[in-house]
Amino acid sequence: MRLKNCYKTADFRALAKQRLPAAIFHYIDGGADDEITLQRNTDAFNSVDLVPNVLAGVEDIDLTTRVLGRELAMPLFLSPTAMQRLFHHDGEAAVAAAAEKYGTLFGVSTIGTRSIEDIGAMTNAPKLFQLYIHNDTALTDDLIERCKEAEFDALALTVDTIVAGNRERDYLTGMTTPPSLTLKSLLGFALHPEWAVNYLLRKKFDLPNVSRYTTAGSTVESSIVDYINSQMKRSIDWDDAARMIEKWGGPFAIKGVMSVDDAKRSVEVGASAIMISNHGGRQLDGARAPFDQLQAIVDAVGGRIEIIVDGGIRRGTHVLKALAMGATACSGGRMYLYALAGAGAAGVDRAMGLLRSEMERDMILMGCQNVSMLRRSMLARVPGR
Ligand code: LAC
Repeated sequence: MRLKNCYKTADFRALAKQRLPAAIFHYIDGGADDEITLQRNTDAFNSVDLVPNVLAGVEDIDLTTRVLGRELAMPLFLSPTAMQRLFHHDGEAAVAAAAEKYGTLFGVSTIGTRSIEDIGAMTNAPKLFQLYIHNDTALTDDLIERCKEAEFDALALTVDTIVAGNRERDYLTGMTTPPSLTLKSLLGFALHPEWAVNYLLRKKFDLPNVSRYTTAGSTVESSIVDYINSQMKRSIDWDDAARMIEKWGGPFAIKGVMSVDDAKRSVEVGASAIMISNHGGRQLDGARAPFDQLQAIVDAVGGRIEIIVDGGIRRGTHVLKALAMGATACSGGRMYLYALAGAGAAGVDRAMGLLRSEMERDMILMGCQNVSMLRRSMLARVPGR
């Protein structure tokens, strides 16, 4: 597979598989337990069909959408994902460049591989910082202050990762950060020399947002299971969320909301947005797909809070279906991560460019000039579902 032949996420996935040592590929690709939810997240979009309106006189398409206090040039943004430097030496810089070029939100992970300060200085893209509440309160408070200082636009509190998901592929490959230098992993490096040379010779792997407080994952090898189970505060509750909202004082999303009741509660505590998400099928397998929960959540809280559908997006039509159902915007991880792993900055650029042109083309075919024209009447349940 070559970058110029990549058109869909599955193509970028094939490129990533070729380039990455197995442990790293499977860390991106895998989900929890039987990976049912991982699969459902995308399949769910096939439960409804689009019903276009023709002869609509569409000319130029306007994809602009307001999300978390910023005007985005398109209704799809880059979800925060951990450890990008591990996937490609371009790491966060590649993702930031694509966010800036396509005028969309760059989600930055607490366990990212560039510091909040570096990212603040690196890009003018709208920036969302993904917050994990750690056991160490000083660390959490410090992250919030650093984001204010670096002028991040919004914060997203992740609430679905208080214990590590059962990712069996990671057990089998022995995936740790930094990668452990066992015989097996060295063989993986030898079989993927380009990745290995860039990993070993370029800027040292680090988790600079947390490494002032813990060596786990930065200098001390840690599996993601150990990291999450030892560092994250398991008992977080709505009072913690309310405190974070107050402390931040700006646009705030709760990421990982799935139930209607929690969506209502998010409105009550004053969140600006919810991200309907099951963490890319990496946490609770058997959890419902975000798109399948969307209608009920829109009916309950639509208009009172921004609703973001996170996960499973592989096509422009998926975004249009979510918006027609009443979502504010969509976001995704693997849709750009395979491309990052496969071809660095050029890969992310191509993946996001393709998704943008799909959305534009699909809007024309739907007879919609701007995103507010997408309505529920343009969706129909697939017969028998
Ligand atoms: C993951 C966490 C770290 O899904 O976001 O791997």
